[in-house]
Amino acid sequence: GAPVEVKIDKIEPGQLVRSEWRGSPVWVIRRTPEMLESLEVIEERLRDPDSEQPQQPEYARNRHRSRDPEWFVAVGICTHLGCSPQFLPRNFGAMDGVDSGFFCPCHGSRFDISGRVFQGVPAPTNLVVPPHYFIDDETILVG
Ligand code: FES
Repeated sequence: GAPVEVKIDKIEPGQLVRSEWRGSPVWVIRRTPEMLESLEVIEERLRDPDSEQPQQPEYARNRHRSRDPEWFVAVGICTHLGCSPQFLPRNFGAMDGVDSGFFCPCHGSRFDISGRVFQGVPAPTNLVVPPHYFIDDETILVG
């Protein structure tokens, strides 16, 4: 499939925008400072905090899993059996005190706001980060 452009200049902090690439949903999220802080406090509860899985861009193998910490781009499909996780931007009660992240309603998998999977849930790996690039300050190219 062809790469897809996503305009990011009107995305508010804390907002998720949906697009599509190769028939799959793609999310672009502008993270708030609070969301970025939350990435540091829960790492002992994650299965793969440094995101060492090989099937992803090299720039996803770190805590923020993106080229620019403010911007998170992910394929919006649960890595367990392919359901669509919910984006919970704040007061994420299902996350035991973690403020923001993703919750898959099918079998209860939980991911932080970098798409890193928690221990003890069915999903085996972190959410997939697709290849992406900044064309300019207003546009991300996915693919
Ligand atoms: Fe998401 Fe099973 S498909 S937890």
